[in-house]
Amino acid sequence: MKILVFNGSPKRDASDTMHITRAFLDGMNEAAAQEVKTIHVIDKHIEYCTGCFACKRNGGTCIHTDDMRDILDEILQSDMLLFNFPLYNYGIPAPLKALLDRTMPLSSLAMQRVGDHYAHPCQADFSRLRYVMICGCGFPNSRHNFEPAVAQFKLMFPSNHTIITIPESPMFNAPEAAVVTLPRLELVKCAGRQFAENGEIAPDLLAEIGSPMIPEETYAAIVNRKES
Ligand SMILES: Cc1cc2nc3c(=O)[nH]c(=O)nc-3n(C[C@H](O)[C@H](O)[C@H](O)COP(=O)(O)O)c2cc1C
Repeated sequence: MKILVFNGSPKRDASDTMHITRAFLDGMNEAAAQEVKTIHVIDKHIEYCTGCFACKRNGGTCIHTDDMRDILDEILQSDMLLFNFPLYNYGIPAPLKALLDRTMPLSSLAMQRVGDHYAHPCQADFSRLRYVMICGCGFPNSRHNFEPAVAQFKLMFPSNHTIITIPESPMFNAPEAAVVTLPRLELVKCAGRQFAENGEIAPDLLAEIGSPMIPEETYAAIVNRKES
């Protein structure tokens, strides 16, 4: 499978959340060899969408001539898009959000009723594409934290989506936390294997992956001690 990874962390390979994505891809690769390309979004020249809708009138071509042209081509050639990002203000970090806004040329301006809401129809057949979101965050709690990003992802990619969220993710870059992070990454690897084999991850495994690695109060106490 051709997998295009968008790393939305400005920390590139040193990112906390990329530990999770690497483990997931390792699991997928164990099941079957995958072709993976990673784009560190922060390194790309991506202008903001101006909202002019010119792409809707001139055959899907944006007014900007920047890296987004190649990125749109790469999306069209992929089987799976994996969005790796840290939660920023309960949502998607700005560079990745700018990239998502600039996928506008891939849909038409028409409004199509889908169940109880409306969406823009795609300009090409994306039915083969799978969408994976891997998101980590700094707080120990998932509730009242991940919901906006999860809701946005589900609305942007209503079908074929898989979502993994992990709280306390700075621990992935703390060697002293290996006793809890390594077993968690093993679970993520197992999820990657399941996903490659069956196209889905067992709900109980997803729930275990999304739970805090150490009790919320302990994690908060450690962070507060380090910061004081
Ligand atoms: C600008 C900014 C906003 C953040 N907002 C949140 C937030 O809303 N909730 C949360 O739990 N963590 C938040 N964090 C913490 C990051 O999600 C966390 O440090 C994450 O592990 C960073 O991952 P990375 O190394 O892959 O970039 C924020 C961090 C920054 C820099």
